[in-house]
Amino acid sequence: MASARTSLAVSIFMMVIAGCISEETCERVDTCSCKFKNGSIVNLKPADGGDSPKYTGISGAQSRTFDWNPCTPFDFEACKQVLSCQITNDAQYPAGTKETTFSVDSEGNVVITYGKSTSGSSERQTKITLKCDHTTNGTKPKSFTEDKVGSLSIYSGMFHSKYCCATGGSSSGGLSPGSILLIIFFPLLLMYFIIGILVNRYGRGIESMPELIPNYSFWADIPFLVKDGVVFTYDRIKTTCAGKCGKSGYAEI
Ligand SMILES: *[C@@H]1O[C@H](CO)[C@@H](O)[C@H](O)[C@H]1NC(C)=O
Ligand SMILES: *[C@@H]1O[C@H](CO)[C@@H](O)[C@H](O)[C@H]1NC(C)=O
Repeated sequence: MASARTSLAVSIFMMVIAGCISEETCERVDTCSCKFKNGSIVNLKPADGGDSPKYTGISGAQSRTFDWNPCTPFDFEACKQVLSCQITNDAQYPAGTKETTFSVDSEGNVVITYGKSTSGSSERQTKITLKCDHTTNGTKPKSFTEDKVGSLSIYSGMFHSKYCCATGGSSSGGLSPGSILLIIFFPLLLMYFIIGILVNRYGRGIESMPELIPNYSFWADIPFLVKDGVVFTYDRIKTTCAGKCGKSGYAEI
């Protein structure tokens, strides 16, 4: 029984981990488009300005401004072949290359991060959160905020456009692995109970109810096994967090 407990505890732990990992992703197709797991695509190409930046004079900290083009690299003074250029009174700094990466934030927005531009000893890159908004072809980002990580400055802004919305893909044919698993799992479970009860009734001659259920004693134990699993998972997360997240935030809970 001890080993059954351990393996159930471990499976629950694995399921929690799998749940964390199976977050939505958007796989890069090219500089400014990406594809969701279900085949839908987000493509900023129609919002692009061609050889000149589509959005100019986006405000930043300390009266800097930014020019941004979603897809096609442009040249502006000292910014060569960039997709984002930081402009101050007397200088320009490249702030993003076409080497983009894509991610999906917790609200389901695609986030496009332009490649790092190096100038002197600092690096700059621009990160745009794409907000699906069917009412506009594209509105200029209000402002870029700045985060500094060592010698890297990251400028972040938000872009509202209908071209930030996922299009295409199959909503019907594209069953996720999770739903396929469920579709297979439940009939199997049902079959297991029906066959189990039949075997117990006619094979073993059992007639009273709880004992008719196949592996009755195991199922009766399930609530305890689940409790073990939850405790095990909780302990693991606590140990992992104690190492990584520092004490301060969690100590009060
Ligand atoms: C949006 O883009 C479409 C196609 O390019 C164009 O026909 C339409 O006039 C644009 N709408 C606005 C509000 O600019
Ligand atoms: C595909 O997934 C994305 C992201 O979860 C979603 O926005 C989109 O509506 C989905 N497409 C279809 C056709 O279901």
